[in-house]
Amino acid sequence: MPKSLNFYPYGKQSLDSEDIEAVVQTLKSDFLTTGPAVDEFERALESEAGVAHSIAISSGTAALHAAYFAAGVKPGDEIITTPLTFAATANAALYLGAKVKFVDVDEETGNLDPALLEEAIGPKTKLIAAVDFAGHPADYEKIQEIARANGLVTVGDAAHSLGATYQGRPVGQLADLTTLSFHPLKLITSAEGGAVLTDSPEYAQKLRDFRTHGIVKDKDRLLSPDEGPWFHEMQSLGFNYRLSDVQAALGRSQLAKLDRFLKRRQEIAKAYDEAFSDLPGIQLPIEKEEVSSAWHLYVLRVSDGAKARRRLFEKMQSLKLGVQVHYIPVYWHPHYQELGYSKGLCPKAETFYEQAISIPIYPALLDSDLQEIQERVRKAVRSTL
Ligand SMILES: Cc1ncc(COP(=O)(O)O)c(C=O)c1O
Repeated sequence: MPKSLNFYPYGKQSLDSEDIEAVVQTLKSDFLTTGPAVDEFERALESEAGVAHSIAISSGTAALHAAYFAAGVKPGDEIITTPLTFAATANAALYLGAKVKFVDVDEETGNLDPALLEEAIGPKTKLIAAVDFAGHPADYEKIQEIARANGLVTVGDAAHSLGATYQGRPVGQLADLTTLSFHPLKLITSAEGGAVLTDSPEYAQKLRDFRTHGIVKDKDRLLSPDEGPWFHEMQSLGFNYRLSDVQAALGRSQLAKLDRFLKRRQEIAKAYDEAFSDLPGIQLPIEKEEVSSAWHLYVLRVSDGAKARRRLFEKMQSLKLGVQVHYIPVYWHPHYQELGYSKGLCPKAETFYEQAISIPIYPALLDSDLQEIQERVRKAVRSTL
């Protein structure tokens, strides 16, 4: 009987007994929700990214919502972002009553194209949210320059790129506010979770308030400080976006392994680059000279476009490769269509979407797994393109 094929997802968490022990210890402690483990995780994130403040929060989506709030986004404002992202990057603006202007991408990296920013900026634009697609930092030098010249805030959605660098500087130091996600498929996980990184104490305070309903307890900040020792004030409208200590303990334990995880992702990307360089009809992802990518995703592109991509995708699935497409342009989703966005808005992002297939990349893949995946990819390409 032929050996049945292992299934390889496109991404997967890597947990070990240390991670499990860290969670168990927290379960035995006095704190379950936000307590000392959240504090420790935040300080560790600050030292990892070399930033002054890290605010742990319940998800990457909550991190975006909080970051846009801290930046002052209000009903009627506009934010600029890329359509080649998970919907959350745009949705967080809608939560605040703001509008989203989608700007097309650089066809090589899939990141926001800074050359198109000036013409997209209008009187209501408040911020530019770049996304480090697949782990490759966006072109922050140009984005920052344009943002500064126009009095705009920059947000880096670094859900894919914790640990990556741009011009030698780590993610976290590249935008005014940087958001992270610790969903299991991301670079490190806390099951669910996220964080916002910033050097600004004003943003940090707003983010902390937003995470707990807008409630202020610090006596120095109370409008009625003499009411009594129990007193606290809800000074703005916030949410319950707390990360729990149980999650933070896992995140902290995972963060200690980030360098090893990133090294393995780089090795896998290099192995794929070599194994697929001669395949016809396929374009491989690039890493620009000024960048060290976190390789959250390895996105192949099918030169022939939509129909060929579908054939190859289905063939790969039949060979038990858990492939995925990143991303359906956000404004293609029915909710955005109802808001008035039309297909065709960002042609380069749409072409990118029609060509893309993400293949398995995660630290737990062994060299023998890579051999197996490479064979299946080559077979699928040869038989469909
Ligand atoms: C680019 C990007 N931004 C934001 C998010 C949202 O993160 P979370 O799932 O932690 O809310 C994700 C997660 O899929 C993402 O890929």
